[in-house]
Amino acid sequence: MNQERVFSMRNPWFVTSVGGIIALAVISVLIGFIWLPSANGDFSGRGLWATICSAAGAPSNWYGGGSNVAGPAPSDVVVLPPHYVSVDQASIGRGATLSTQNCSMCHGVLGTVQVTAPALAGQYADVIYKELRDYQSGLRANAIMQPIIHARSDQDLHDLAAYYASLQRAAPAEPNASPDANAEKLAMQGDPMRNIAPCAACHGQLDRKGAAPWLGGQSSVYLAAQMQRFATGERHNDINEQMRNVARHLTPQEIDGLAKYYAAQP
Ligand code: HEC
Ligand code: HEC
Repeated sequence: MNQERVFSMRNPWFVTSVGGIIALAVISVLIGFIWLPSANGDFSGRGLWATICSAAGAPSNWYGGGSNVAGPAPSDVVVLPPHYVSVDQASIGRGATLSTQNCSMCHGVLGTVQVTAPALAGQYADVIYKELRDYQSGLRANAIMQPIIHARSDQDLHDLAAYYASLQRAAPAEPNASPDANAEKLAMQGDPMRNIAPCAACHGQLDRKGAAPWLGGQSSVYLAAQMQRFATGERHNDINEQMRNVARHLTPQEIDGLAKYYAAQP
């Protein structure tokens, strides 16, 4: 059989198969872009052209429907990348003077750390700076810290952060706190079925997310109180609710166990 005659309009097989394919394509387009999307209320309300555009995946503002991006901005919190605070010796020196006069009676190093206050030695600089900023702006409310920090300059906050970050981390606050297997599992592996990411994935043991504090060296009283406040939303200065989303899923027993677990860590 001659090759040319296969691709000829006079060949009925050729005409039927090509015609069939074209017909099939047209029918699929009609079903996929018009009939199925029209059956969906979200798509069909805005007319035929919008229906076709949304079925094709075009952004809604291309065809005049851009108003659905209205609403408040997701967050007005400044996102600080880790290690944002620059550390130089002069800054550390000024921070040392400030902290000896104003902070060490509660936060340790020259004094002892009070159980309700966190140890700051060796804490990440970006954490200290962010928390001080949050006390200043009132985003993190606290009757003790807000008046202490309210009139401090931005340079003071940088110096204090640089100083504390330059110190050795504190020893465990409660080295003999009873180890809890479930708490350790939550800390290192989380609980995926309940949407709890491992604490260690954000808090520095395995990996670190911006502004997440190092938790070792703190008293169980302080740690448990902060988790409870995140769980109820009383503390809400965590960017994108990172910590509230975790704390909400924890039972009171788990909060207690995790607080003891971290209190026993350096
Ligand atoms: C009278 C005791 C006291 C003094 C003095 C004090 N603090 Fe605090 N600080 C606290 C308490 C209590 C908290 C926990 C508050 C809370 O629950 O939000 C705290 C929390 C903090 C935090 C948050 C840390 C974290 O891990 O979230 C930082 C940072 C801090 N203080 C820095 C300072 C600095 C810097 C000074 C000195 C300029 C200072 N504090 C003076 C009692 C004190
Ligand atoms: C997705 C990341 C993420 C995970 C997972 C996470 N945290 Fe946090 N956590 C944060 C961040 C970020 C902050 C600091 C929020 C702020 O003040 O800006 C925080 C703060 C805290 C604080 C307050 C500490 C202080 O000094 O202020 C405690 C306590 C805490 N987390 C415990 C835990 C425990 C326990 C777990 C595991 C069950 C956990 N977190 C899991 C991100 C996380």
